[in-house]
Amino acid sequence: MTMGRLQDKIVVVFGGARGIGLATVREMLAEGAVVYSADVREPAEELALAGSAHYNTVVLDATDEEQVNRFVEDVVDARGRIDVLFNNVGIHLGKPLAETTLEEFDEVFALNVRTAFLGTRAVLPHMIGRRGGSIITTSSNGGVMGRPGDPVYNASKHALVGLMRSVAVAHAQQGIRANTVNPGAIDTDMLRGTLSSPEEFESRRHRLVASTPAARVGEAWEVAKAVVFLACDESRFVNGVSLPVDGAKSAGAMPSERYSLDFELGPG
Ligand SMILES: NC(=O)c1ccc[n+]([C@@H]2O[C@H](COP(=O)([O-])OP(=O)(O)OC[C@H]3O[C@@H](n4cnc5c(N)ncnc54)[C@H](O)[C@@H]3O)[C@@H](O)[C@H]2O)c1
Repeated sequence: MTMGRLQDKIVVVFGGARGIGLATVREMLAEGAVVYSADVREPAEELALAGSAHYNTVVLDATDEEQVNRFVEDVVDARGRIDVLFNNVGIHLGKPLAETTLEEFDEVFALNVRTAFLGTRAVLPHMIGRRGGSIITTSSNGGVMGRPGDPVYNASKHALVGLMRSVAVAHAQQGIRANTVNPGAIDTDMLRGTLSSPEEFESRRHRLVASTPAARVGEAWEVAKAVVFLACDESRFVNGVSLPVDGAKSAGAMPSERYSLDFELGPG
């Protein structure tokens, strides 16, 4: 049997039931990890049916302090340690600032920032105690650049970059790494979620393709591969970074005609 890059690592995932989280759970299991996936949704059926002893799921609300703390303590009690934490819970809000209600602001920050704070705070003492661990949080290309359409979501994703950088600086000497993965437009339920029809999705996708230098949206597994890299020992000296997985979207501006909706794809 070949050794996986996460062989026997104890991994905790928040938001692992679908989308980028589920793709990452799959990759991690394939790399030999023991995964504890928590989500407010029921676990993905096909993985659960596979009956892997390495795949453990819990239904919880990751904004709830008590539930998060109990879950983490249960994993430590069962396995004695946590090697990797993946904070992936998030919701999108595509609204101009002046139209955003206080309730919407609080909800976005609860789902996107509070969850990562709670997960990280629960796991850190155990990682400090063992002098090792890798924490990965899902930010966004909107975590490192301003965007006009989703200012509050964008601010929440910037906050996650700040959180991971600060944890990295504070705890690097204790062997702890904290990084973000910054996806661009990825074809998931979140991307399709708020759209009412397949036609609407196609028009949104078309706009996202036009604003992405790679001229396509990404797949969840492409993000998962980057998370596995940050989780495993191959990245042992990579700490406090934000790794874009965005087809160069955050790398800079394109020629203006490339943003046009009827742009012609060049020879590549
Ligand atoms: N899809 C994209 O284009 C894209 C781009 C950049 C960043 N992201 C980020 O990637 C992450 C995953 O997004 P996705 O596209 O896979 O979306 P998704 O909605 O498919 O996944 C989010 C997961 O979080 C879970 N979740 C939501 N609220 C929860 C709660 N209170 N407690 C526990 N779990 C909860 C959901 O059930 C779901 O499984 C998010 O943080 C998102 O902001 C996505």
